[in-house]
Amino acid sequence: MTTSGFQAFLLLLCLSSLLSLLYFSFLDQKLHQHKYHPAVPQRNLRILLWHWPFSRSYRLDGDKCLQMYNISHCFLTDNTSTFATADVVVFHHHEISRGLSSLPLHLDRPASQYWVWLSMEPPVNNANLTQLNGLFNWTMSYRRDADIAIPYGETRLGGYEPVFQGAQNHSCFVSWVVSRYWPHQGRAGIYQSLKKYIPIEVYGRWNKKPLSKKKLLSTIADCFFYLAFENSEAKDYISEKLWRNAFQAGVVPVVLGPSRATYEALAPPGSFIHVADFETTADLAAYLRHVAADRQVYEKYFQWHRTHTIKTYTDWRERLCQICVKYPTLPAQQVYQDLESWVYS
Ligand SMILES: *[C@@H]1O[C@H](CO)[C@@H](O)[C@H](O)[C@H]1NC(C)=O
Ligand SMILES: *[C@@H]1O[C@H](CO)[C@@H](O)[C@H](O)[C@H]1NC(C)=O
Ligand SMILES: *[C@@H]1O[C@H](CO)[C@@H](O)[C@H](O)[C@H]1NC(C)=O
Ligand SMILES: *[C@@H]1O[C@H](CO)[C@@H](O)[C@H](O)[C@H]1NC(C)=O
Ligand SMILES: *[C@@H]1O[C@H](CO)[C@@H](O)[C@H](O)[C@H]1NC(C)=O
Repeated sequence: MTTSGFQAFLLLLCLSSLLSLLYFSFLDQKLHQHKYHPAVPQRNLRILLWHWPFSRSYRLDGDKCLQMYNISHCFLTDNTSTFATADVVVFHHHEISRGLSSLPLHLDRPASQYWVWLSMEPPVNNANLTQLNGLFNWTMSYRRDADIAIPYGETRLGGYEPVFQGAQNHSCFVSWVVSRYWPHQGRAGIYQSLKKYIPIEVYGRWNKKPLSKKKLLSTIADCFFYLAFENSEAKDYISEKLWRNAFQAGVVPVVLGPSRATYEALAPPGSFIHVADFETTADLAAYLRHVAADRQVYEKYFQWHRTHTIKTYTDWRERLCQICVKYPTLPAQQVYQDLESWVYS
């Protein structure tokens, strides 16, 4: 190499390292912009729960978010006398649906306080929404597009050990647990039609065969399949019927609820049979017979146990502590002027 050639080479080397330096610092900036906000808020947050959902209360003494979920600077209270100092006040829909008198509209609402509308129920179960317009800053529900999204369960990477291994003694083909049965519901029609082709064991209050908490999973686990039929087919509404009843019992769920695309996005891969994939209930029944008869085909529905796991959320406190995790990224100065439109959107 000539001297001038070598100089040119050195220059190029310098230039390219400068460029890559610039590029990486740009990348770094981008990464920081998109970085998940720290789970630890900068200051203490006070979350006031106005009513306990369905009147079932949990203990809030001590620092529950830290002790139970390792979320710091996050203090939950149900003491409504602390209203003036709360950063966030959470209102569960069921208890405020009767009328506005259950809301603290007579109190001075601090300008920096956020009000959260909370419901884990599908739209049809949220009555009297219009009276709540213009009151809330954030929504909290199982929906992915809620400000504070708190699903009944979620899929994570890992490995899964169900509480039971289902269908061990082949004593039951498919079960269904239903407490409130309404003939007009979509799931009732499917059940009435499906039971003509396959035996369905029905448990729950409706059939006067309620299962205790202790017996629930073990009973479901005696079957090949579980009808994880939601009471309402609504956007993102996938309840504990899937996450707990079917997955924890180690049986294959037959699902009725949101679209297949939603289940594919939220549930472990290849973990369910979707009712909408079949033209008729006879086709569905025939497919279930085929799957139950072939061990290899049946086992395919549990392949995800090797690569994925599920996390369920059941404790209201865990959900409330999530507000602090999300708080730094939640929109300021937002008001739900038409809550009902959002709920039905
Ligand atoms: C608790 O959270 C902190 C960060 O907020 C983390 O460093 C620590 O490992 C966590 N502890 C447990 C037991 O998860
Ligand atoms: C509720 O909060 C008020 C105001 O901070 C306080 O005076 C009262 O002692 C609290 N009540 C309970 C039961 O902790
Ligand atoms: C809806 O509001 C009316 C009064 O405006 C009340 O009588 C009714 O019980 C409410 N419905 C529910 C489900 O809370
Ligand atoms: C097997 O089947 C019987 C009903 O025939 C049931 O009582 C029993 O608990 C089942 N499960 C297991 C794991 O043995
Ligand atoms: C929350 O919503 C109310 C309307 O009900 C609004 O007046 C207030 O500015 C909002 N608060 C924040 C902190 O954005």
